[in-house]
Amino acid sequence: MKVTQLECLCLILLHLLHTAGSESFEVLGPTDSIVAVAGEDIILPCYLKPNISAEDMTVDWLNLDFLDGRVFRYQNSEIIRDDQIPSYRRRTSLFKEELWRGNTSLKLTRVQGTDEGHYKCLIQSKSWYDDITVQVLVKAVGSKPVVSIEGHREGGMGLLCETEGWHPEPELVWLDSKGVHLSAGPPEIDKDFKGFYRVKQHVIVQETDTNRFTCRVQQSQINEKMETDIHLPSE
Ligand SMILES: *[C@@H]1O[C@H](CO)[C@@H](O)[C@H](O)[C@H]1NC(C)=O
Ligand SMILES: *[C@@H]1O[C@H](CO)[C@@H](O)[C@H](O)[C@H]1NC(C)=O
Repeated sequence: MKVTQLECLCLILLHLLHTAGSESFEVLGPTDSIVAVAGEDIILPCYLKPNISAEDMTVDWLNLDFLDGRVFRYQNSEIIRDDQIPSYRRRTSLFKEELWRGNTSLKLTRVQGTDEGHYKCLIQSKSWYDDITVQVLVKAVGSKPVVSIEGHREGGMGLLCETEGWHPEPELVWLDSKGVHLSAGPPEIDKDFKGFYRVKQHVIVQETDTNRFTCRVQQSQINEKMETDIHLPSE
């Protein structure tokens, strides 16, 4: 059988209609987690394959650790701010000039502790959708510990050590001048509104030859350590 020119044209048209109608795509992003330094800006990569335009699609960025609300939504060529999680206000954007080539990466400015989590990039066209999940880890080096003298307590001297601005949660330890761990009260831990950790810890020390004591804060995951010494005047 001979394929006529008309039949050939019809087949091409059918093929075009089919691909245009289904318009399938894949959403791609990084496989490794992204480590963000507090205070800096980061890009969460997300893009379409093939690199078709996302200008007429709906792009949602969600933080899966929040049950309600979104990090960012782009729909009908507009940024939709209803339901935006308050901590992301004025800190998120897409690269508008990149949308036509399927790049829907999110820019997040001034990273803070509450930004740590699993982010979903979900892209929907009229006939198709796909998504990826990106993990973001936040690292923040907090303040050098501050040591204060609280006065006589239970036959010894009460000291307090405080530090703030950490992520992830750091550990506090009290040491004597020989580097021996002192038994101290339980660490009191809380987070500020940006999700950075504050820790304080009380200790009662007895007089020693040197009367020198150290409070150390350490965060092994980010390989940070800081110390503050105090020298107590003898009685
Ligand atoms: C889309 O992808 C193709 C093949 O990878 C590449 O040659 C082309 O430059 C890309 N287009 C844009 C606008 O990025
Ligand atoms: C998307 O755009 C951002 C910002 O210009 C760029 O850093 C990133 O490399 C782009 N990603 C792709 C896949 O083109």
